[in-house]
Amino acid sequence: MNTLPTEGGLELLRRGRRLRRSPAIRALVRETRLSPESFIYPLFVCEGEGIRREVGSMPGVSQLSVDKAVEEARAAHAEGVGGVLLFGLPAYKDEVGSAAYDPEAPVQAAVRAIKRENTDILVVTDVCLCEYTSHGHCGIIVDGEITNDGSVAQLVRAALSHAVAGADIVAPSDMMDGRVGAIRKALDDRRLEDVAIMSYSAKYCSAFYGPFRDAADSAPKFGDRRTHQMDPANSDEALREVEEDIDEGADIVMVKPALPYLDVIRRVKDVFQYPTAAYNVSGEYAMLKAAARNGWIDEPRAMMEMLTAIRRAGADIIITYYAREAARALA
Ligand code: PBG
Repeated sequence: MNTLPTEGGLELLRRGRRLRRSPAIRALVRETRLSPESFIYPLFVCEGEGIRREVGSMPGVSQLSVDKAVEEARAAHAEGVGGVLLFGLPAYKDEVGSAAYDPEAPVQAAVRAIKRENTDILVVTDVCLCEYTSHGHCGIIVDGEITNDGSVAQLVRAALSHAVAGADIVAPSDMMDGRVGAIRKALDDRRLEDVAIMSYSAKYCSAFYGPFRDAADSAPKFGDRRTHQMDPANSDEALREVEEDIDEGADIVMVKPALPYLDVIRRVKDVFQYPTAAYNVSGEYAMLKAAARNGWIDEPRAMMEMLTAIRRAGADIIITYYAREAARALA
C-alpha cells in the first residue's frame, strides 16, 4: 500500500522553492528586467503615401510610406519604445546602390519627418547597400567579387546622408572591414561628431534573415553573404570583430542574430563591458508568429521569455519586431 510522504521529512537548510512561492517574492528576487526604453523597433520605409503593406512572412510587420512610418514611430514612442531603426525600399536600384545616399530616398525623408515631430524617440538608420543594389549584395561587385574598400566608400556616403538628415545613430550592417573607422572619420570631418555609431560587429551569415529579405527586398540575386558575414561556428572571431569596431570608434556594438548566439552576447558583454545590442531577427520573430498562428505556442509568454533571455545573456539594447507588443505587455 502506498503512503503519502509526510510534511517536513527532509532536513534542508536551503529550499529554492521558498523564493518562488508567490508573485511578490519572485519579483523581489528577479535578476533580469525588461524595459521598453531599451527596445529598438525596425521599420521598412517605402515610396508613396498612405501605404501600409504587410510582409507575408512577418505578420504584424509592414512596408510603410513615410507618413505611415511617422505614425508608427509616434505610436511606438507613446508606448515607451526607445528608438526606431529605419530600412529603405528605394524607387530605383543600380549596380553601386546610389539610392542609399539619395537625400530624397525613403530613409532620409523618414528621418527628417520623424525628427520634425520633436519627440525624444531615437532615430537609428541601417547602413548597407543590399536594399539598394540591383544584385542585392551589401557591396560593390568587381570581377564577380564583393570589393571591400570601394564598398566602404559607398557606405560612408550613405551614413553621411543619414546623419545630415538628422539620424541620432547610424548602424552599419554590411560587415565590410574598416567601415566603422571610415564612417567615424567622415562624420567628424563634417562636424557631425555627435552622431553615434552602433555597429553590427558580430553579424553572422544566418538563415534567420530570410523573412527580412522579403520585407526589404534585399535577397542577393546570386551567391550568398559568406565572404563578409561571420561563420556561425565562430565566437573567438566575434570578439576580434567587436574589438576592431571599438578601436575604430563604435559607440555601441551588436551581435546578430540573438537567440542562436546568446553565448556570443555573453562573451562580448563580459569581455568589453561596452553598450551591447542584440538583434532579435526576422526569422526569430517569424518562428514564433508561425507557431502561434498554428496554436502551437503561447505567443505572449514565448515573446517575453525570448526577450528576457536575450537581456539575461547581456544585451543592453534589443532590436526587435516585438518592440511595441512587448512594450504594451510591460505597461
Ligand atoms: C542588411 C541587413 C539584414 C538584416 C539587417 N540588416 C539582412 C542581411 O544581412 O541579409 C537582417 C535583419 C533581420 O533578419 O531581421 N544587410
